[in-house]
Amino acid sequence: MSKKKIKEIFIGSNNNGKLKEIADLLPKSLKIYSNFDFKIRSPVETGTTFAQNSLLKAKYFSKKTNKICMSDDSGIEIDILDKAPGVYSADWSGKKRNFNLAIKRVYKEIFKKDKNWKKKKITARFICVLTIFWPDGKFVSKIGKIEGRISNIKKGNNGFGYDPIFIPNGKRLTFGEMEPYKKYSIDHRSNAFKKIKKFF
Ligand code: IMP
Repeated sequence: MSKKKIKEIFIGSNNNGKLKEIADLLPKSLKIYSNFDFKIRSPVETGTTFAQNSLLKAKYFSKKTNKICMSDDSGIEIDILDKAPGVYSADWSGKKRNFNLAIKRVYKEIFKKDKNWKKKKITARFICVLTIFWPDGKFVSKIGKIEGRISNIKKGNNGFGYDPIFIPNGKRLTFGEMEPYKKYSIDHRSNAFKKIKKFF
């Protein structure tokens, strides 16, 4: 990978919630390209780990655009569900990416495992692997995590995806109820980003 600081980057994602959160982490002086400029379909995520899918996406978008590209593969692991939905977090929201459906499914699956779950701490974590891929084939991937629990009711309209049901350890609010800057100060994505910040 080049030692030169990155001045422009393509963010390889068709998920607008994610795109916004990645863009918010990046320096304001950076020129950001996204699918609003290029309209490239996302690749099929054939990997079985966050690391594999993150690399697969960054490489794919870099080959398509011939630009330095950053991709995120992320999701939520719920311990009582044997770490599901994990890499399939987006799939649980169906073709139309409806997260009310995904959250209903989470509640249904947890109930199947334990009828009394609302009285218990259902531990979970968000995981994110960020990859920067350079057109010369070099890449760097870093992982970030945040531990927490599943709220027994959906709360808040901020963020995206599973934010309304995730309460980070040591907090009372779900990510959906938190101000974005508060979420970014502790979340999985910013955690991974801190480890690759030096390239910008
Ligand atoms: P993928 O990385 O495109 O496979 O999608 C990851 C999925 O994980 C997203 O569609 C969300 O459902 C979920 N996810 C990842 N990060 C977050 C987050 O910060 N908040 C809420 N949901 C998230």
